Amino acid sequence: MSGSPRILLGTDADDTGRLAAGVVLGTVRANPAAVLGLATGSSPLPLYAALAAAGTDFSRVSGFALDEYLGLPDGHPQSYAEVIRTAVTEPLGMDPHLVHVPDPHGMDHAAHAADYDAAIAAAGGADVQILGVGSNGHIGFNEPGSAFDSRTRVVPLAERTRQDNARFFESPDQVPVECLTQGIATIFGARHLLLIAHGEHKARAVLRALRGPVTEDFPASIIQRHPHVTVVLDAGAASLLGDLACG
Ligand code: F6R
Repeated sequence: MSGSPRILLGTDADDTGRLAAGVVLGTVRANPAAVLGLATGSSPLPLYAALAAAGTDFSRVSGFALDEYLGLPDGHPQSYAEVIRTAVTEPLGMDPHLVHVPDPHGMDHAAHAADYDAAIAAAGGADVQILGVGSNGHIGFNEPGSAFDSRTRVVPLAERTRQDNARFFESPDQVPVECLTQGIATIFGARHLLLIAHGEHKARAVLRALRGPVTEDFPASIIQRHPHVTVVLDAGAASLLGDLACG
């Protein structure tokens, strides 16, 4: 079963944050022990800021990060464990014991990845999975060619992703070459997908995700098959979609 995604149009990046926050807050107010799938990167930062400002009680909410780099030292400011701690867990007042990020420091990544999927399932699955989209169509770090039935695992980062993410590091060669990412099937298991994009540089990826062929060559296109999707865009990210009926 699949339904048309609901598209919410914001005036700018901050407005996408306020609109997306409305979705998350609706879920958390209905279920104070909700489970959230957490994206990092720039796209959800206005959302996290809006959630922090809302003053809602997140102390019983669980979170599962989408991904984590391999090869960064523990505590590196660009490790997603640190990004989640500083942008999400602390500002929202979440219980650190309920916030999970794939751990890149163990010896057996395959066993850890299986445990991570099992932990999401044991928590009841994500009520809302927050997503950004890569310029090459990745969700999580499921790069083009990732199988739709993939689960959490180690993947190499595409060169384009390393270039896109070089802005977060002091030099491009510091961007890790591998990461642990939730798989496409893991992400698809969430009850509600909330994809956020702002900026004209995302317009083509948004167009392909929403209107292009559903193909593993463009992983974000899988959202067209999910029954409950909300897409929050600013004018730049929506600029190739033509007339939009919003709401
Ligand atoms: C981050 C993640 C990625 C990003 C994507 C967009 O946890 O899984 O898929 O959402 O690379 O990144 P930004 O938002 O920085 O453009």
